[in-house]
Amino acid sequence: RPGAGRWVPDGADVDRLASAVHGCRGCELWAPATQAVFSAGPSGAALALVGEQPGDREDREGEPFVGPAGRVLAEALAAAGVATGDVYLTNAVKHFRFTERGKRRLHRTPDVAHVRACLPWLEAELATVRPRVVVALGATAARAVLGRPVRIGQERGRVLDGERHAVLVTTHPSALLRVRDGDERAAQRAALVADLRAAAEAAA
Ligand code: URA
Ligand code: SF4
Repeated sequence: RPGAGRWVPDGADVDRLASAVHGCRGCELWAPATQAVFSAGPSGAALALVGEQPGDREDREGEPFVGPAGRVLAEALAAAGVATGDVYLTNAVKHFRFTERGKRRLHRTPDVAHVRACLPWLEAELATVRPRVVVALGATAARAVLGRPVRIGQERGRVLDGERHAVLVTTHPSALLRVRDGDERAAQRAALVADLRAAAEAAA
C-alpha cells in the first residue's frame, strides 16, 4: 500500500529513522521540498510535541521549529516552565508542502492522505522514544496522533489517556502569529501556555 511504510526501518532508533527519512518516497511531497525534516530533542524525552509539517525555514535548514512558529513555541514552553531542550519535537508530516507565488513559498496544509502516508514515521518515533505524554499542536497533528478528526476548540487542554502514552491536544503556535488583536493574542498565548504546563505536569 502507498505511504512511508516500506522506507521505515524496523526497530530503528531516532538516529536511524532520521537518516532513512531522506529516502522516503511515500507520497509526492518529497519532490518539490529541499529536504525531509525529522525531529529535534532527546530520544528519551518524557514529553513529545508534534507539529504539522516543516515550514519554509525548516525546509531550508533541515530542523523542526526554527522559524516564526518555533519562536512562539519556544516562548510558550519557557513561560510554562519547560526547557525546550528537554522535549522531543517532531511533525506529523516530514516534508514542507507549499505553493509558489513568485519568489515566495506559501504554506499549504497537508491533506489527510499526506498525514496518513507519513504516519509510519511518527509511529516509529513514538515507539522508540516512548514519551509519557504526546502534545498534538493543531488539527493536523491531532489527526495523526489520535487517528481521527479532532476539533481543537472542543478537546484542547485535557489529558487523554491512551495505551502507549497520554495525549493532549492544543492549538498550533502559528495560530498566534495570525491574531491581530493584542488582547486576543495574549489570551490565546496564555491558553497555549496553560496546556503545555498541564502536559509537562502529566509527563513529570
Ligand atoms: N510548524 C510546524 O508545525 N512545524 C515546524 O517544524 C515548523 C512550523
Ligand atoms: Fe515520505 Fe512523509 Fe515525505 Fe511523504 S511527507 S515523502 S510520506 S517523509
